[in-house]
Formats: sequence, C-alpha cells, structure tokens
Amino acid sequence: MDTVLSGIRPTGFLHLGNYFGALQNFTRMQFDNNCFFFIADYHSLTTHPHPADLHENIKNVLIDYLAAGIDPEKSTIYVQSDVPQVCELTTLLSMNVYVGELQRVASFKEKVRRQPDNVNAGLLNYPVLMAADILIHRADKVPVGKDQEQHLELTRDFAQRFNRIYETEYFKLPVAYNFGKQLVKIPGLDGSTKMSKSDNEASCIYLSDDPAVIRKKVMKAVSDSGPTEPNQPKPQAIENLFTLMQAVSAPETLAFFEEQYNKCQIRYGDMKKQLAEDIVQFTAPIYEKIKELRSNDDYIAKVARMGAEKARASADKTIKDVREIIGIKHF
Ligand code: TYM
Repeated sequence: MDTVLSGIRPTGFLHLGNYFGALQNFTRMQFDNNCFFFIADYHSLTTHPHPADLHENIKNVLIDYLAAGIDPEKSTIYVQSDVPQVCELTTLLSMNVYVGELQRVASFKEKVRRQPDNVNAGLLNYPVLMAADILIHRADKVPVGKDQEQHLELTRDFAQRFNRIYETEYFKLPVAYNFGKQLVKIPGLDGSTKMSKSDNEASCIYLSDDPAVIRKKVMKAVSDSGPTEPNQPKPQAIENLFTLMQAVSAPETLAFFEEQYNKCQIRYGDMKKQLAEDIVQFTAPIYEKIKELRSNDDYIAKVARMGAEKARASADKTIKDVREIIGIKHF
C-alpha cells in the first residue's frame, strides 16, 4: 500500500488549478492507499496573512477538501501546524541543505522578484519545510501541479542525502504524481499560463463560486477576434480556453470547437458559453456540498481533531526513528 500526500496553502478558496493539480482523481486513491491531505498553514505565513484571515482560510480549505470528495474516515485530513514534528524534521533536514542550493530554487527567485520588500528566511527554507511535510509520513506519491515539480526533486535530493550521510535506506524517494503522464498546469482566464490567486483573482474559478459568478468570469475571459487563416497555432489566451475545455468538457465538445478554430469559423462567445456551462456542471456537486458544510462547524472541528491525531501518530513514529538514526537519544 502506497502512502500518498497532498498539500495546499490556505490562501483563500480552492480553484480549478488546485483541484486538477492536487485533488481530482486522487480522491479515488483513498480506497487502496494510505492518503494524507493537509493544509500547509506554515507555508502560507511567508506572505504574512492577517491573523483573522488565517483561521478562516484554513477552515475554507478544509471544507473544500471535504466537498471535493475526501473522506475523513478513509484519509487523514489535517492542518500542518497541528503536527509540530514537521518543524523538528525541518530543523534536522536543514543541517544538510545548503543556502546556495535554496537560493537557486525557481520559486524563491520568483518571490524575490515579486516581493523584494519581504524576502524572509521562511521563503528560503520553504522547500525544506515542504520536504519535511512529505518525508514525515514517508510518502511514496505526491499529487501536485507542474509548478511544484522542482520542490519534489529537492525533496528527493534531501532524502537521498540523509540516507547517504547516515548510511541508511530510511527515507523513500517520493515522486510528483498525476494520473496522466504529465503534471498539469491549469491556465488562468486572464491569458496567463497558470491559474493563480496571487496573480489575478478574476483569472480563477473557485470550487465555491456561484454559477452566476462562473458564467460572468468565463464570459470576460481574454480572447481575440479569431484566426484569419486555417490551422494556425493558437495564441496563449485561446490555448487557455481550449485547455480549460479539455479539463471539464466532453471530448466531442472539445473536438467541435477545435474544428471550428481550424476552419476559422470559431465564435468565442459560443465557446465561452459552452465552457461556462460545463464548468458549472462540473463544480455544481462540490459547490452544493460546500454550502452544506459551511453551516456545520462541529463536524469541521471533529474532522480537524481526528486528522490531527492520526497525522501526529504517523509523524511521531518517523521523528523517533530519525532521532535514533541521527544519534539523539534519551538519557
Ligand atoms: P499551492 O497552495 O500553491 O497549490 C496547491 C496545489 O495545487 C496545485 N496548483 C495547480 N495545479 C495545476 N494548475 C494550476 N494552475 C495550479 N495552481 C496550483 C499546486 O501544484 C499544488 O499541488 N508548496 C505547496 C504546498 C505544499 C505541499 C507540501 C504540496 C506544502 N507542502 C507537500 C505537496 C506536498 C503550494 O504552495 O501549493
């Protein structure tokens, strides 16, 4: 039985990118794998959220997880900060991680560019904390979107380094996982290549968006006046509409609009209308469940408590083993 671990930062509601990168289909793995789904609240502190927002965001991600089909009886759903062993493992791993290699990480360089006034040490150490999340449960598979690929490579490097230094095979080497051959990258509605809440709220479709909001956002998606010659390559914004359609629509629908595009007969208004309806249909059951769960605080609290207990038990075992391997022993 494999151990599968998926994590999401609580920075707002979950969008379609999070769903296809870290959740879709993986809910099916709950039946024959040991699955952990967690909320990476420590990671979200790198952008200094307001304390009042943080708890609310954690609760919303918990609700979105449940509504997307994670069963807390089969899987372990937990909040990262409920498992302090993660911090200990981060400290232990970081002794064998070099500042230079962290400075070269693409996501770090990107943050330095984007938020030059807040280049905190948490950002630099972000991949080590992430490796600790994964290694604390000795996960085999980690469902992630394309943007997390490098972090998974680093996790394998750190695990391998630990094994080499301590002459052990203790840590498994986890892989970034998706059911298809490729990791996915769901694009934004604003023409950007990645749906991301930090870039542009209007580019995201949230699982908790009301159908009317979804229709409005999709109709406003960036497009152009259409191709002027047959079989032309698609500009990025148009490619995005097709990628979204591929994710949520029937193959015949996608094939129909592909053909329209190639024949220069495409009407983006029609395509967006169809896309909006398909997204609405796709998210409707999740959206209904979210509404139901929002008024059930007791249940949410129970899920978080149960998950914390299960996650701590798993983490505790790893930390005990790691201390032993390193030579930290009780008198
Ligand atoms: P985060 O919170 O940015 O995103 C959560 C998950 O959603 C995926 N994702 C996407 N996938 C496809 N298309 C998109 N547009 C898109 N946007 C987001 C991300 O790849 C990710 O899988 N560092 C992580 C959180 C984390 C984590 C971990 C993940 C912390 N520790 C351990 C896995 C294992 C992050 O910031 O994800």
